[in-house]
Amino acid sequence: MSTTGLKAQVEQALAAVINPRHGRDIMSAGMVREVTVDPSGAVTFTFVLTREDPGSLARQARKAAAAVPGVSGVQMKVVDSAGAGERQASGPSGRPAAPTPPPPPPPPTPDEMPSLGKVLAISSGKGGVGKSTVSANLAAALARDGHRVALMDADIYGPNIPRMFGANAKPEVQGGKIQPLEAHGVKLMSLGFIVERDAPAIWRGPIIMKIITQFLKDVAWGELDYFLVDLPPGTGDAQLSLTQIVRLHGAIIVTTPQEMAVGDSLRGAKMFERVGVGVVGIVENMSYFVCPDCHARSDIFLAGGGSRLAAELGVPLLGQIPLQAGMAELADRGEPIVVSQPESPAGMALRELARTVAARTAGLAPALPITAAPR
Ligand SMILES: Nc1ncnc2c1ncn2[C@@H]1O[C@H](COP(=O)(O)OP(=O)(O)O)[C@@H](O)[C@H]1O
Ligand SMILES: [Mg+2]
Repeated sequence: MSTTGLKAQVEQALAAVINPRHGRDIMSAGMVREVTVDPSGAVTFTFVLTREDPGSLARQARKAAAAVPGVSGVQMKVVDSAGAGERQASGPSGRPAAPTPPPPPPPPTPDEMPSLGKVLAISSGKGGVGKSTVSANLAAALARDGHRVALMDADIYGPNIPRMFGANAKPEVQGGKIQPLEAHGVKLMSLGFIVERDAPAIWRGPIIMKIITQFLKDVAWGELDYFLVDLPPGTGDAQLSLTQIVRLHGAIIVTTPQEMAVGDSLRGAKMFERVGVGVVGIVENMSYFVCPDCHARSDIFLAGGGSRLAAELGVPLLGQIPLQAGMAELADRGEPIVVSQPESPAGMALRELARTVAARTAGLAPALPITAAPR
């Protein structure tokens, strides 16, 4: 039999396999791609599974193809639906799709955006640990060292990057692109520039996805060396959206020494690792206090949350930032401490942190999208 005849028979056999999730056969549902048959009867095809599909469907498909007389072997590449998905729902067979409701859109495949440089997420288990302070100062310190830096405020519930940089103009749109604001050498984008009040707590999933997508793709960021993202605390929709839109180079977790339960931070770090994003390291903020008069260092908190978390994750402690009186007032004036008081204990520690982060991320490649079928 000709290979085209055999191919048609294989496709017919595959069309008899029904996906119980929506009752359509796997051919017309577009789950089978790139069927080839060589003269020896070896069959290859790509099988697209979504997270909701039973894994046993792949086995059934293989069996169905292998059972066709004349087929000598079946090689099947199973891929996750991310990016490939069921968008061609009428399928390569050209048959009209059954009148079932459309399946939910597959999660997008994160894009590599090389013009952004190293894309680093700054996250924490809970609020108030100094995540925004670290993000703002890290960005300003990297810019001071001559790098091209942007900071995206993805903490949509409490966007305080505008305040910390003293920037609060409405961004302009030029040539269909949103122009980022710029302060202390850092390009900035925040929901705080766009809406008056904090985002209502009902903002979830799709809206957050839209905002973050727009901030990443519709802002004229230009060519950068570092793209930092200040995330809301925890492991919510913003974290997930970010990892689905752009291929991150790594995550930096901010914690405090007195965090007795490192649980929240640990969960946050694990979430990144699950989606293939490595944790660059831990920053311990409000770590110690330097007496302004005698310059003696006192470890007011002895719990060592940062080093414990770092040890638990097997990642480096990137830096320890002292508690500094007046930091909040400086932030309210729109001046990161690395700019206004670079020689202060916290200023020096944050500048050192920037160098450590630059060194640690120098060789990092962006996270690969997860394409293996979920087990
Ligand atoms: N090292 C520090 N020394 C003194 N105050 C700090 C320090 N780090 C942060 N703060 C203050 O603590 C408060 C919370 O910090 P912030 O960066 O807004 O935390 P988060 O973004 O994690 O909610 C702010 O008022 C900030 O100025
Ligand atoms: Mg914050």
